[in-house]
Amino acid sequence: MIHSIGDLQVQGRVVLVRSDLNVPLRAAAEGSVSISDDGRIRASVPTLEALAARGARVVVLAHLGRPKGQGDPALSLSPVAARLADLLGRPVRFVPAVSGPEVAQALEGMSDGDVVLLENVRFDPRETSKSDAERADLAAEWAAHADAFVSDGFGVVHREQASVTNVARLLPCAEGLLVARERASFDRVLRDPARPYVVVMGGSKVSDKLAVIGNLLGSVDRILVGGGMAFTFLRAQGYPVGDSLLEEEMLDSVRAILAEAEARGVEIVLPSDVVIARDIADDAEVRVVPADAIPDGWKGLDIGPETVARFSQALADARTVVWNGPMGVFEVAPFASGTLGVARALAASPAFTVVGGGDSAAAIRQLGLDEGAFGHISTGGGASLELLEGRTLPGLAVLEGDS
Ligand code: 3PG
Repeated sequence: MIHSIGDLQVQGRVVLVRSDLNVPLRAAAEGSVSISDDGRIRASVPTLEALAARGARVVVLAHLGRPKGQGDPALSLSPVAARLADLLGRPVRFVPAVSGPEVAQALEGMSDGDVVLLENVRFDPRETSKSDAERADLAAEWAAHADAFVSDGFGVVHREQASVTNVARLLPCAEGLLVARERASFDRVLRDPARPYVVVMGGSKVSDKLAVIGNLLGSVDRILVGGGMAFTFLRAQGYPVGDSLLEEEMLDSVRAILAEAEARGVEIVLPSDVVIARDIADDAEVRVVPADAIPDGWKGLDIGPETVARFSQALADARTVVWNGPMGVFEVAPFASGTLGVARALAASPAFTVVGGGDSAAAIRQLGLDEGAFGHISTGGGASLELLEGRTLPGLAVLEGDS
């Protein structure tokens, strides 16, 4: 059984919280950076707020990007601390160290209700070390100053890392409110989905998604494929794809999936028209062509309007929908309509809709859609894909005491 934060004694105690504050940063004026999508920070607030309100001394552990086990000023969590403080409505003290005397001193000086954010835990090579002993060593340094651990970084629960799994083995632990909400939503679609159950898959790489599609074939009624990955599906059916994204080495696997889908009676819906251009640019010359007629020298960069209509139709009677990955290069205006169209169809649908993967969640926010219109917008990228693949995630198993 996984404990919830209500099961923990937190008043006056130092509580370590693993959050996922891995947000996209953009260079701003005079060497500063700005946060281009703070969704993950906002999603982390309720747990931190609940603990601080109960008098816990909250110490947040988080990472940013993939530094190579050493300090990198461009990946400091310092700007994240400032945004977190704004959103929490409480001061957040940023400690520019991951472990050692500076951290010990900061933790010893905390009062009830204080919130501290340590520097990017991946600046310490032990965080992501392949050696369990090294990871355990870092975790022990944190645990020596703490009374409990709360796992709330859903985006990292697929990682075997010091701040995710090792520290959970050393302290009384619980899941945070975000991890609880994420688990409940994925359980609902994985265990007993209301039917018809439709999955919308997009994003650039087939190789990232094929295991998910393979696992879902046993439970899903229909799969709609868009995004860059659709071109490997179209090629597998013998169509020319011009200069579109293509993973040649995946063609046989895609054919096998198509055959298995047919054998199981799962409908796979591919684009029938695509938006093409020679370059990915705001001012690119753009055409809409049938999906089986992409000329040489042109790239497919979005699904076309007919496909949006067909996908919307295929979603109309759905009662459960999982959406993972954008339908095109939505960040560039001429290639955003497909993602926008599918997102609108989902927002209007009465189905229980889980949006997984950081890109689709970012698309919803960047396109200005109402997040409340979706059943659940996951903060996890890789973690949500691994759950959909049917895998056991180490950061969740450890909370059950299974590892
Ligand atoms: C994510 O961005 O999906 C999470 O923060 C995990 O990051 P990682 O893939 O670098 O472990």
